[in-house]
Amino acid sequence: MRLLTVIGARPQFIKAAPFSAVFRQQHKEILVHTGQHYDANMSDVFFNELGIPKPEYNLGVGSGNHGVQTGRMLEKIEELLLCEKPDGMLVYGDTNSTLAGALAASKLHIPVFHIEAGLRSFNMIMPEEQNRILTDHISTILSCPTQTAVDNLAREGITKGVHNTGDVMYDAVLYNIEIAKSRFSWDKLISDMHVLEGSVLNLTAKNYYLATVHRAENTDDKRRLCAIFEAFSEMDMPVLMPIHPRTRKLILQYDIIPTNVILIEPVGYLPMLMLTSNAKKVLTDSGGLQKEAWMLETPCVTIREQTEWIETLECGWNVLVHVNKEDILNKAMNTKPDINKRGNPFGDGHAAEKIVEVLKDYK
Ligand code: UD1
Ligand code: UDP
Repeated sequence: MRLLTVIGARPQFIKAAPFSAVFRQQHKEILVHTGQHYDANMSDVFFNELGIPKPEYNLGVGSGNHGVQTGRMLEKIEELLLCEKPDGMLVYGDTNSTLAGALAASKLHIPVFHIEAGLRSFNMIMPEEQNRILTDHISTILSCPTQTAVDNLAREGITKGVHNTGDVMYDAVLYNIEIAKSRFSWDKLISDMHVLEGSVLNLTAKNYYLATVHRAENTDDKRRLCAIFEAFSEMDMPVLMPIHPRTRKLILQYDIIPTNVILIEPVGYLPMLMLTSNAKKVLTDSGGLQKEAWMLETPCVTIREQTEWIETLECGWNVLVHVNKEDILNKAMNTKPDINKRGNPFGDGHAAEKIVEVLKDYK
């Protein structure tokens, strides 16, 4: 089988690593990087540390408004599909790169295989919700990470080609956490960080909150972003924040002066796993990170009103907030999970193998 895979944003590189490794043992993959993320610490670092094959094509699309960014991708991906004529198009998740890949293929009657299908926040304001619904409805094979995702699709009338394969991000965590532990002592973790503001000298394990914030609904709304940083300023421990370039630009634009926050450049996946497992709690609006917190048994506060990953909410391992200072502070400092209770909703760490099996049967 010859698949063309489109990736472009940080979480897609991490998801691609386990799948590509298994798929390429028997099949041919043409990897296309749209260039949606392009800074070295948002892109190259993941290829280098996770051994992801070098993409055959980089479309160099870069940043832009949704229409511009998605439109440029569509045009270039269509050209490639006409030339490469693959047996299928593989896409991950819910970014603009996902939608562009799926739409370009679907219009050319090339089957679309969607990994991480069926997730819903039921908030159509999110660009990700629009991308995932549209992608699911034009996909031929839908790999769901959880039973909830399968059920969401069924409610929308999608039952054909749907498989509960487990989550490739669970594969990635299980495979990489031991590697991360062997490579990163605490001292190395600290000394490798590129600190932008604050000091990491006195930082110790379990004595910090790990925070990431980048969702459009939080960053593009000045009131919400200010509330988040006000809450961080009053936490009982320092807040370590690898800052997404989008958020970095906006805190400057809104004149936010982070207090009690140690700002660092985005880090690679291996150090991120270490920072997550050593944090007192994770505070985030990231889809991937709230799950990794769950997988690494670190309690999480998700700085959003909804989550697609509702399994993480069971027994208090993840808690949603209203995005205002009081609620963030209260839930970050006062909630505790029931540590004796944990389900196993994300599969067995072999999602990549299961997806390859499903695709083989399809062919
Ligand atoms: C995108 C995805 C989001 C995902 C996130 C992962 C969409 C609609 N959003 O959001 O679902 O959770 O990636 O991180 O696809 N920028 C840089 N350097 C980079 C990349 C971005 O400076 O390498 C800056 C640019 O100013 C850009 C902004 O970040 O305009 C936003 O980037 P973009 O890719 O449009 O969206 P994300 O917020 O990263
Ligand atoms: N991540 C990382 N370095 C960072 C911040 C995040 O490696 O500095 C990883 C994180 O561990 C998770 C993924 O990036 O695997 C999540 O990506 P992001 O939060 O950008 O997007 P989302 O998952 O919300 O779509």
